[in-house]
Amino acid sequence: MKTLVLYYSFGGTTRRLAEAIARSVGADLAEIRSAVPLETREDVSRLIEARKKFEILPLEKDPADYDLIFLGSPVWAFQLAAPLKSFLIQKKIEKKKVALFCTYRLFPGLALWNLSRALRGNKILAKTAFKSDSTEQAAEIWAKETFSKA
Ligand SMILES: Cc1cc2nc3c(=O)[nH]c(=O)nc-3n(C[C@H](O)[C@H](O)[C@H](O)COP(=O)(O)O)c2cc1C
Repeated sequence: MKTLVLYYSFGGTTRRLAEAIARSVGADLAEIRSAVPLETREDVSRLIEARKKFEILPLEKDPADYDLIFLGSPVWAFQLAAPLKSFLIQKKIEKKKVALFCTYRLFPGLALWNLSRALRGNKILAKTAFKSDSTEQAAEIWAKETFSKA
């Protein structure tokens, strides 16, 4: 089963768990990166306030080449992080098996619901929200369990 872990991360938490997931199921890894540099939390706030689509750098991997895709995002303002939202508008993912995860500090809000909605037309195998202090081991257990269902 060709597997990809596709994620966006601003502060490194989602990256840390995405890397653990990729290691545990032997998946490739691809990071969604904003073409507009987002260095500070103020940059991010400005982006959220502007509510507009923005550019994503070309991805190193093509999701079309994979059977199973793990998709990860931080929660921003109780929603899916804007760069991942923009990515999913620009690049349709269809007819795949998908597993969705978000990372959050206090309350995940609608992030997983946003992700599920954006990925209609795919088979959603699992979805989960990890608190930002979750261990890599917790992510690995979830990933292996999900992978065994695929
Ligand atoms: C702009 C911004 C908005 C955030 N909004 C929320 C929120 O609504 N709820 C929450 O629980 N955490 C929120 N957080 C915390 C992050 O979701 C959490 O720390 C996450 O694990 C960060 O992932 P990252 O390090 O991969 O970017 C927010 C963080 C940022 C930078």
